[in-house]
Amino acid sequence: MEILKQLLVWRRDVRHFRTDAVPEALVEDLLDLVQLAPSVGNSQPWRFVRVESAGARATVRASFEACNEEALAGYEGDRARLYAGLKLAGLDRAPLQFAVFCDGATAQGHGLGRGTIPDTLDWSVVGAIHVLWLAARAQGLGLGWVSILDPQAVTAALDVPAGWRLVAYLCLGWPAEEHATPELERRGWQGRTGAGRTVLVR
Ligand SMILES: Cc1cc2nc3c(=O)[nH]c(=O)nc-3n(C[C@H](O)[C@H](O)[C@H](O)COP(=O)(O)O)c2cc1C
Repeated sequence: MEILKQLLVWRRDVRHFRTDAVPEALVEDLLDLVQLAPSVGNSQPWRFVRVESAGARATVRASFEACNEEALAGYEGDRARLYAGLKLAGLDRAPLQFAVFCDGATAQGHGLGRGTIPDTLDWSVVGAIHVLWLAARAQGLGLGWVSILDPQAVTAALDVPAGWRLVAYLCLGWPAEEHATPELERRGWQGRTGAGRTVLVR
């Protein structure tokens, strides 16, 4: 339990990476562990697309720059200044990058569960990403989740099958620094509040 607690406390969203390579066997081990994640009807709808081509990476970075600029324009005053100083993606240095999709057309799981709550298919992909996040941390690797992107632009750049929905774009590599506190908290954007902790029973 203590080890699990340490893993949860030290897991971070990482945006500052060293550029040295991650051994291929380690990447394979991590992706094997992802397959142990829970999924609605055991549908396993996650599709991890490893993004290697310079062209596709450039498209993703351009999309991030445009979306980030647009997001900045939505803030004013001190919040805008704070936002402008945040580093919200490790796309410039992360040696490994994955676009993670949900295969909305998969027959696996035979529809169980998602007939009533279709979003459970996407949530299953999020669960798999969290497994990767923790497994990476356990190996000393850092993972950064980038969602300030135009999903259509990223999907088009990767030429994936129709029906795949972009859930996340992930940067993976050796972290340049270690912290027990979220970067957004350290920079004064948003700390942990425990706001969702209380369950009201009526
Ligand atoms: C669904 C999701 C999307 C996220 N998108 C981004 C993002 O676009 N850019 C970013 O810097 N962090 C992103 N994050 C990371 C959060 O900012 C981070 O989890 C939060 O600040 C708490 O920090 P911690 O993960 O280090 O505990 C995302 C996290 C989740 C779960």
